[in-house]
Amino acid sequence: MATYEKHHCWSILLRLFHWMFALSIVFLVTTGFYINNPWTNTMIEGSFSFPMATMRYIHFLAAYTFSAAIAIRLFLYIFGNAQERILDILPVTGRNINNLFMTLLQYSYISDKHDERLGHNILAGLAYLFTFFAAIFMIVSGFYMLYPEASFWAGWGVTIFGSQQFARYIHHILMWWFMIFAVIHIYLCIWNDTKQPEGLISSIFTGVKFKHKA
Ligand code: HEM
Ligand code: HEM
Repeated sequence: MATYEKHHCWSILLRLFHWMFALSIVFLVTTGFYINNPWTNTMIEGSFSFPMATMRYIHFLAAYTFSAAIAIRLFLYIFGNAQERILDILPVTGRNINNLFMTLLQYSYISDKHDERLGHNILAGLAYLFTFFAAIFMIVSGFYMLYPEASFWAGWGVTIFGSQQFARYIHHILMWWFMIFAVIHIYLCIWNDTKQPEGLISSIFTGVKFKHKA
Protein backbone atom coordinates (compact mmCIF):
# COMPACT_ATOMS: atom_id res chain seq x y z
CA MET A 1 0.00 0.00 0.00
CA ALA A 2 1.36 3.34 -0.95
CA THR A 3 1.89 5.69 1.93
CA TYR A 4 1.83 9.42 1.61
CA GLU A 5 2.90 12.28 3.78
CA LYS A 6 1.63 15.82 3.90
CA HIS A 7 3.93 18.66 2.82
CA HIS A 8 3.20 22.34 3.17
CA CYS A 9 3.77 23.98 -0.22
CA TRP A 10 1.81 27.26 -0.63
CA SER A 11 1.84 30.15 1.84
CA ILE A 12 -1.37 31.98 2.71
CA LEU A 13 -0.12 34.92 0.66
CA LEU A 14 0.23 32.74 -2.47
CA ARG A 15 -3.28 31.37 -2.01
CA LEU A 16 -4.61 34.88 -1.41
CA PHE A 17 -2.89 36.00 -4.63
CA HIS A 18 -4.46 33.11 -6.54
CA TRP A 19 -8.04 33.81 -5.55
CA MET A 20 -7.74 37.61 -5.81
CA PHE A 21 -6.32 37.11 -9.31
CA ALA A 22 -8.81 34.46 -10.49
CA LEU A 23 -11.92 36.27 -9.16
CA SER A 24 -10.87 39.72 -10.35
CA ILE A 25 -10.32 38.32 -13.86
CA VAL A 26 -13.91 37.04 -13.98
CA PHE A 27 -15.18 40.57 -13.24
CA LEU A 28 -12.63 42.24 -15.55
CA VAL A 29 -13.51 40.07 -18.52
CA THR A 30 -17.28 40.45 -18.03
CA THR A 31 -17.19 44.23 -17.57
CA GLY A 32 -14.49 44.53 -20.27
CA PHE A 33 -16.84 42.95 -22.81
CA TYR A 34 -19.52 45.39 -21.74
CA ILE A 35 -17.21 48.42 -22.11
CA ASN A 36 -16.25 47.19 -25.56
CA ASN A 37 -19.79 46.54 -26.75
CA PRO A 38 -22.54 47.53 -24.28
CA TRP A 39 -25.47 45.16 -24.43
CA THR A 40 -28.02 47.46 -22.73
CA ASN A 41 -30.24 50.05 -24.42
CA THR A 42 -28.41 53.38 -24.78
CA MET A 43 -31.62 55.19 -23.77
CA ILE A 44 -31.02 54.07 -20.17
CA GLU A 45 -27.68 55.88 -19.95
CA GLY A 46 -27.78 58.79 -17.55
CA SER A 47 -31.56 58.64 -17.04
CA PHE A 48 -32.82 56.37 -14.24
CA SER A 49 -29.63 54.34 -14.25
CA PHE A 50 -26.14 54.56 -15.70
CA PRO A 51 -24.98 51.02 -16.59
CA MET A 52 -21.79 52.07 -18.40
CA ALA A 53 -20.59 54.01 -15.34
CA THR A 54 -21.48 51.06 -13.09
CA MET A 55 -19.63 48.59 -15.32
CA ARG A 56 -16.57 50.85 -15.50
CA TYR A 57 -16.68 51.28 -11.72
CA ILE A 58 -16.70 47.48 -11.21
CA HIS A 59 -13.91 47.17 -13.82
CA PHE A 60 -11.75 49.61 -11.89
CA LEU A 61 -12.45 48.03 -8.46
CA ALA A 62 -11.48 44.64 -9.91
CA ALA A 63 -8.47 46.27 -11.61
CA TYR A 64 -7.13 47.47 -8.25
CA THR A 65 -7.60 43.97 -6.78
CA PHE A 66 -5.84 42.52 -9.83
CA SER A 67 -2.93 44.99 -9.49
CA ALA A 68 -2.59 44.26 -5.74
CA ALA A 69 -2.51 40.53 -6.54
CA ILE A 70 0.31 41.08 -9.04
CA ALA A 71 2.26 43.10 -6.45
CA ILE A 72 1.87 40.15 -4.03
CA ARG A 73 3.11 37.71 -6.70
CA LEU A 74 6.12 39.89 -7.47
CA PHE A 75 6.99 39.90 -3.77
CA LEU A 76 6.64 36.10 -3.62
CA TYR A 77 8.81 35.55 -6.73
CA ILE A 78 11.62 37.16 -4.72
CA PHE A 79 10.82 36.49 -1.05
CA GLY A 80 8.38 33.54 -1.14
CA ASN A 81 9.10 30.01 0.05
CA ALA A 82 11.22 27.58 -2.00
CA GLN A 83 8.31 26.61 -4.31
CA GLU A 84 7.17 30.20 -4.81
CA ARG A 85 10.46 31.79 -5.84
CA ILE A 86 11.12 32.44 -9.50
CA LEU A 87 14.16 30.13 -9.69
CA ASP A 88 11.96 27.13 -8.86
CA ILE A 89 10.07 27.45 -12.17
CA LEU A 90 12.84 28.45 -14.56
CA PRO A 91 14.42 25.72 -16.74
CA VAL A 92 17.92 26.61 -15.55
CA THR A 93 18.91 23.48 -13.63
CA GLY A 94 19.25 19.90 -14.87
CA ARG A 95 16.31 18.80 -12.76
CA ASN A 96 14.06 21.58 -14.04
CA ILE A 97 14.96 20.97 -17.71
CA ASN A 98 14.27 17.28 -17.17
CA ASN A 99 10.92 18.10 -15.57
CA LEU A 100 9.97 20.33 -18.52
CA PHE A 101 10.53 17.51 -21.04
CA MET A 102 8.93 14.90 -18.80
CA THR A 103 5.81 17.07 -18.47
CA LEU A 104 5.64 17.69 -22.23
CA LEU A 105 5.83 13.93 -22.87
CA GLN A 106 3.20 13.21 -20.22
CA TYR A 107 0.81 15.92 -21.45
CA SER A 108 1.07 14.60 -25.00
CA TYR A 109 0.30 11.04 -23.82
CA ILE A 110 3.69 9.75 -25.02
CA SER A 111 4.88 8.70 -21.58
CA ASP A 112 3.23 8.03 -18.24
CA LYS A 113 6.23 9.07 -16.18
CA HIS A 114 5.49 11.76 -13.62
CA ASP A 115 8.11 13.81 -11.81
CA GLU A 116 6.87 14.20 -8.24
CA ARG A 117 7.73 17.66 -6.98
CA LEU A 118 6.29 20.00 -4.42
CA GLY A 119 6.15 23.14 -6.58
CA HIS A 120 4.67 23.71 -10.03
CA ASN A 121 5.90 21.62 -12.91
CA ILE A 122 8.11 23.75 -15.17
CA LEU A 123 5.64 23.93 -18.06
CA ALA A 124 2.94 25.24 -15.71
CA GLY A 125 5.42 27.59 -14.03
CA LEU A 126 6.41 29.11 -17.38
CA ALA A 127 2.76 29.58 -18.36
CA TYR A 128 2.18 31.35 -15.02
CA LEU A 129 5.22 33.55 -15.59
CA PHE A 130 3.96 34.50 -19.06
CA THR A 131 0.58 35.32 -17.49
CA PHE A 132 2.34 37.47 -14.90
CA PHE A 133 4.01 39.54 -17.67
CA ALA A 134 0.73 39.73 -19.61
CA ALA A 135 -0.86 41.07 -16.40
CA ILE A 136 1.76 43.82 -16.19
CA PHE A 137 0.86 44.89 -19.75
CA MET A 138 -2.85 44.91 -18.74
CA ILE A 139 -2.03 47.11 -15.75
CA VAL A 140 0.11 49.61 -17.67
CA SER A 141 -2.31 49.85 -20.62
CA GLY A 142 -5.30 50.02 -18.23
CA PHE A 143 -3.90 52.79 -16.03
CA TYR A 144 -2.68 54.65 -19.11
CA MET A 145 -6.30 54.69 -20.36
CA LEU A 146 -7.59 55.61 -16.91
CA TYR A 147 -5.12 58.42 -16.16
CA PRO A 148 -3.86 59.57 -19.57
CA GLU A 149 -2.59 62.82 -18.14
CA ALA A 150 -0.80 61.49 -15.04
CA SER A 151 2.90 61.84 -15.82
CA PHE A 152 3.78 58.36 -14.43
CA TRP A 153 1.19 56.37 -16.43
CA ALA A 154 1.39 58.53 -19.53
CA GLY A 155 5.20 58.20 -19.46
CA TRP A 156 5.07 54.41 -19.42
CA GLY A 157 2.02 54.28 -21.68
CA VAL A 158 3.59 56.40 -24.44
CA THR A 159 6.91 54.54 -24.15
CA ILE A 160 5.35 51.09 -24.44
CA PHE A 161 2.24 51.61 -26.56
CA GLY A 162 2.50 55.01 -28.19
CA SER A 163 -1.11 56.08 -28.64
CA GLN A 164 -3.95 55.36 -26.21
CA GLN A 165 -5.86 53.74 -29.05
CA PHE A 166 -3.08 51.19 -29.50
CA ALA A 167 -2.97 50.61 -25.72
CA ARG A 168 -6.69 49.85 -25.84
CA TYR A 169 -6.19 47.46 -28.75
CA ILE A 170 -3.44 45.54 -26.86
CA HIS A 171 -5.59 45.61 -23.69
CA HIS A 172 -8.38 43.95 -25.65
CA ILE A 173 -6.23 41.36 -27.47
CA LEU A 174 -4.47 40.33 -24.24
CA MET A 175 -7.84 39.71 -22.57
CA TRP A 176 -8.11 36.63 -24.78
CA TRP A 177 -4.94 35.21 -23.28
CA PHE A 178 -6.53 35.30 -19.81
CA MET A 179 -9.69 33.59 -21.04
CA ILE A 180 -7.85 30.88 -22.97
CA PHE A 181 -5.38 30.39 -20.12
CA ALA A 182 -8.22 29.98 -17.57
CA VAL A 183 -9.93 27.25 -19.60
CA ILE A 184 -6.73 25.26 -20.23
CA HIS A 185 -5.55 25.85 -16.64
CA ILE A 186 -8.72 24.51 -15.03
CA TYR A 187 -8.78 21.56 -17.46
CA LEU A 188 -5.14 20.66 -16.68
CA CYS A 189 -5.63 21.02 -12.92
CA ILE A 190 -8.54 18.56 -13.05
CA TRP A 191 -6.60 16.24 -15.42
CA ASN A 192 -3.60 16.21 -13.06
CA ASP A 193 -5.79 15.68 -10.04
CA THR A 194 -7.36 12.58 -11.57
CA LYS A 195 -3.94 11.16 -12.57
CA GLN A 196 -1.84 11.85 -9.48
CA PRO A 197 -2.86 11.38 -5.87
CA GLU A 198 -1.00 14.50 -4.73
CA GLY A 199 -4.16 16.54 -4.11
CA LEU A 200 -3.33 19.31 -6.58
CA ILE A 201 -6.65 21.16 -6.54
CA SER A 202 -7.06 21.13 -2.77
CA SER A 203 -3.51 22.50 -2.45
CA ILE A 204 -4.63 25.89 -3.74
CA PHE A 205 -7.13 26.03 -0.84
CA THR A 206 -5.15 24.31 1.94
CA GLY A 207 -1.52 24.95 0.92
CA VAL A 208 -0.76 21.24 1.39
CA LYS A 209 0.24 18.54 -1.13
CA PHE A 210 0.75 14.79 -0.62
CA LYS A 211 3.97 13.01 -1.60
CA HIS A 212 5.06 9.39 -1.51
CA LYS A 213 6.83 8.59 1.75
CA ALA A 214 10.56 8.52 1.03
C1 HEM B 1 -7.10 40.62 -17.04
C2 HEM B 1 -7.37 41.88 -16.77
C3 HEM B 1 -8.22 42.80 -17.62
C4 HEM B 1 -9.09 42.50 -18.63
C5 HEM B 1 -9.45 41.13 -19.18
C6 HEM B 1 -9.61 43.77 -19.13
C7 HEM B 1 -10.50 43.91 -20.20
C8 HEM B 1 -10.90 45.09 -20.74
C9 HEM B 1 -11.64 45.24 -21.95
C10 HEM B 1 -12.10 44.12 -22.86
C11 HEM B 1 -11.86 46.58 -22.15
C12 HEM B 1 -12.62 47.20 -23.30
C13 HEM B 1 -11.60 47.67 -24.31
C14 HEM B 1 -12.21 47.63 -25.68
O1 HEM B 1 -12.84 48.60 -26.07
O2 HEM B 1 -12.09 46.60 -26.32
C15 HEM B 1 -11.24 47.28 -21.07
C16 HEM B 1 -11.25 48.65 -20.93
C17 HEM B 1 -10.59 49.32 -19.94
N1 HEM B 1 -9.86 48.74 -18.92
FE1 HEM B 1 -9.48 46.78 -18.65
N2 HEM B 1 -9.08 44.80 -18.40
C18 HEM B 1 -8.22 44.24 -17.47
C19 HEM B 1 -7.44 44.92 -16.56
C20 HEM B 1 -7.48 46.28 -16.38
C21 HEM B 1 -6.66 46.99 -15.45
C22 HEM B 1 -5.63 46.36 -14.49
C23 HEM B 1 -6.97 48.30 -15.56
C24 HEM B 1 -6.36 49.39 -14.73
C25 HEM B 1 -6.99 50.41 -14.33
C26 HEM B 1 -7.97 48.43 -16.60
C27 HEM B 1 -8.54 49.62 -17.05
C28 HEM B 1 -9.33 49.76 -18.15
C29 HEM B 1 -9.76 51.04 -18.71
C30 HEM B 1 -9.41 52.41 -18.17
C31 HEM B 1 -10.54 50.75 -19.82
C32 HEM B 1 -11.20 51.77 -20.77
C33 HEM B 1 -12.54 52.12 -20.24
C34 HEM B 1 -13.25 53.05 -21.18
O3 HEM B 1 -12.80 53.26 -22.31
O4 HEM B 1 -14.29 53.56 -20.77
N3 HEM B 1 -8.26 47.18 -17.08
N4 HEM B 1 -10.66 46.36 -20.22
C1 HEM C 1 -12.06 26.84 -10.30
C2 HEM C 1 -11.05 27.57 -10.67
C3 HEM C 1 -9.60 27.29 -10.38
C4 HEM C 1 -8.96 26.26 -9.75
C5 HEM C 1 -9.58 25.01 -9.12
C6 HEM C 1 -7.56 26.52 -9.78
C7 HEM C 1 -6.56 25.71 -9.24
C8 HEM C 1 -5.22 25.99 -9.25
C9 HEM C 1 -4.19 25.11 -8.75
C10 HEM C 1 -4.46 23.73 -8.16
C11 HEM C 1 -3.01 25.71 -8.91
C12 HEM C 1 -1.63 25.13 -8.59
C13 HEM C 1 -1.28 24.29 -9.79
C14 HEM C 1 0.15 23.92 -9.93
O1 HEM C 1 0.80 23.52 -8.97
O2 HEM C 1 0.68 24.09 -11.06
C15 HEM C 1 -3.24 27.00 -9.52
C16 HEM C 1 -2.28 27.93 -9.83
C17 HEM C 1 -2.54 29.09 -10.53
N1 HEM C 1 -3.76 29.51 -11.03
FE1 HEM C 1 -5.52 28.63 -10.73
N2 HEM C 1 -7.34 27.71 -10.46
C18 HEM C 1 -8.56 28.20 -10.83
C19 HEM C 1 -8.82 29.35 -11.55
C20 HEM C 1 -7.83 30.20 -12.02
C21 HEM C 1 -8.09 31.34 -12.89
C22 HEM C 1 -9.46 31.77 -13.42
C23 HEM C 1 -6.88 31.92 -13.10
C24 HEM C 1 -6.57 33.12 -13.93
C25 HEM C 1 -7.03 33.30 -15.14
C26 HEM C 1 -5.88 31.15 -12.38
C27 HEM C 1 -4.53 31.45 -12.35
C28 HEM C 1 -3.57 30.71 -11.69
C29 HEM C 1 -2.18 31.09 -11.62
C30 HEM C 1 -1.55 32.34 -12.23
C31 HEM C 1 -1.55 30.09 -10.86
C32 HEM C 1 -0.08 30.04 -10.49
C33 HEM C 1 0.10 30.47 -9.05
C34 HEM C 1 1.52 30.90 -8.86
O3 HEM C 1 1.87 31.95 -9.42
O4 HEM C 1 2.27 30.22 -8.17
N3 HEM C 1 -6.49 30.12 -11.74
N4 HEM C 1 -4.62 27.14 -9.73
